[in-house]
Amino acid sequence: MTILGIESSCDETSCSIVKDGTEEIATVILSQIDIHTNYGGVVPEIASRHHVKNITMVLEETLKQAHMTMEEIDAIAIAYGPGLIGSLLVGLEAAKTLAYLYDIPLIPVHHIAGHIYANALAKEMKFPLLALVVSGGHTELIYMKEHYSFEKLGGTLDDAVGECYDKVARVAGLGYPGGPKIDHLAGLGEASYPLPIPLNDDSYDFSFSGLKSAVINLSHNLEQRGIPLIKEDLAASFQKVVVESILKKTEKAIDRWKVEHVIVAGGVAANSGIRDGVKNLCERKQIGFSVPELRFCTDNGAMIAAAGYFAYQQGRIADFDLNSKSNDTLR
Ligand code: KG4
Ligand code: ZN
Repeated sequence: MTILGIESSCDETSCSIVKDGTEEIATVILSQIDIHTNYGGVVPEIASRHHVKNITMVLEETLKQAHMTMEEIDAIAIAYGPGLIGSLLVGLEAAKTLAYLYDIPLIPVHHIAGHIYANALAKEMKFPLLALVVSGGHTELIYMKEHYSFEKLGGTLDDAVGECYDKVARVAGLGYPGGPKIDHLAGLGEASYPLPIPLNDDSYDFSFSGLKSAVINLSHNLEQRGIPLIKEDLAASFQKVVVESILKKTEKAIDRWKVEHVIVAGGVAANSGIRDGVKNLCERKQIGFSVPELRFCTDNGAMIAAAGYFAYQQGRIADFDLNSKSNDTLR
């Protein structure tokens, strides 16, 4: 089954063609990051305008790279939410139009299901499975007893981990998006600044706003005392605490739910500390581990097409009254 996946929930316009949920044929991702960097974050109105401008071009380029025509596509998978409403609507209207024109099924895909299923493009998913979802908007542990069954074990009580990376980067004057910059600097520094491990309790929940405040306080404190902040060391200290906090809860969930496979999903799955940490943890526990290729960690159409295949197997097909949702529970 050949599915065209469309993703436009934030600042990437992307289309991809994937066969049977596992085999990528072609993917085009047009990022607006350079535009939004000028504002220190994504500006929703600007993002939706660019989606409108880019969507047709991205679709045509994807078909061209795949050496395919729309007649060869069996279904359209669309990321209907959560995300920025104006951005989502552009992808949704394109998806509905194509499904109507070519008389093929329209498959609704939750954006986080997409991030999870980016892993199906890397390795076969084995169940029961634990998904660690870490992105700019989410930090969640999700238990899956089988395909397309999602049970949330815990999540962040305040900031998402990617959001915290971006804010800490701003404090350190590193610009937007801060995640990749902090990750790079962390590899060059020593974890010499003491920072508290957030929400060091027995739940599967996370909390990052206290850690963010601790970094801000540390930076102000050093500034007042005229001591220069060593950015590399701050990045290394911050990343160490984030990884420790994530690993602690992940290990607890592995033990409690006797999972066979752990996957990492979302933009922050690109983080070297998290990738290596979870991989080592799974080796120690002698269970399967997978993480998407770097280009499939941030938002892309391939993950939507992959998830769409498994959603379709469960009979999930949308009518033309499908609407975009800025917020929606993964189920
Ligand atoms: O999944 P994503 O593309 O968008 C959302 O759905 O939120 O994730 C974007 C987030 C940003 O906060 C970005 O700073 C973070 O992922 N990120 C990273 C890394 N690469 C991207 N955070 C830490 N380390 C990285 N290497
Ligand atoms: Zn995302």
